[in-house]
Amino acid sequence: MTDHPKLYEGKAKILYATDDPAVLLTFFKDDATAFNAQKKGSIQGKGMVNCAIASHLFQVLAKQGIPTHFIDQPSPTEMRVKAVKIVPLEVVVRNLAAGSLCKQTGLAVGTPIQPPLVEFYYKNDDLGDPLLTRDRLFLMQLATPAQVEQLTTMALQINTILTQFFQACGITLVDFKLEFGLDANQRLILADEISPDTCRLWNQTETDPARRVMDKDRFRHDLGEVESAYQQVMERVLAH
Ligand code: TMP
Repeated sequence: MTDHPKLYEGKAKILYATDDPAVLLTFFKDDATAFNAQKKGSIQGKGMVNCAIASHLFQVLAKQGIPTHFIDQPSPTEMRVKAVKIVPLEVVVRNLAAGSLCKQTGLAVGTPIQPPLVEFYYKNDDLGDPLLTRDRLFLMQLATPAQVEQLTTMALQINTILTQFFQACGITLVDFKLEFGLDANQRLILADEISPDTCRLWNQTETDPARRVMDKDRFRHDLGEVESAYQQVMERVLAH
């Protein structure tokens, strides 16, 4: 780890300052939480696995022209990132119905969503990360209309790239959550992480609704074999 000052400790990562104010160091923890930290646990090796997956995916996206905060990966559990001001929004993209969408709409799990849905949630643990309407988002001044437009466009571009990428890995990208930040030039760039903690990923060789799950839903719903599912995602991602 590092001697640098800790700036922030989240549920899955710790953020440290570095000698360069434009650069931060992210440490990926094995800790896992669900349902706004009502369920707590640990997934052995998750820090290393998520750091490897996120680093690889950020580089895939950068090659396709998506600006990200990724700089490099100095150790298996650490990522150096550009310092950004995080926009307090969780941007969720959905290709198939799952999770809270099914709970709130009654749609059957796995219903295709075309065109994909882009949703904005207020990143605020005290409030339980509520789903926002556009008007509420503007009321709270969480982003400008131009930024919402840009976030939507970027989220859909990222979805196209990642859907294709995971398809090549034999994995269906069901839905995922993104976070963005403003860099020193007030430009929106992709931040946080993309990993089995933040995506729903279904193994295409499995049809059984429990067996196909390769993401944090295994932890959320006590499906077992969490570590091996994350490991399997990492192996496939790193091979592509
Ligand atoms: P949801 O169906 O629970 O709204 O989740 C949608 C996607 O967002 C799913 O891929 C999991 C991800 N997600 C997070 O990354 N963090 C969260 O706090 C939540 C609730 C969901």
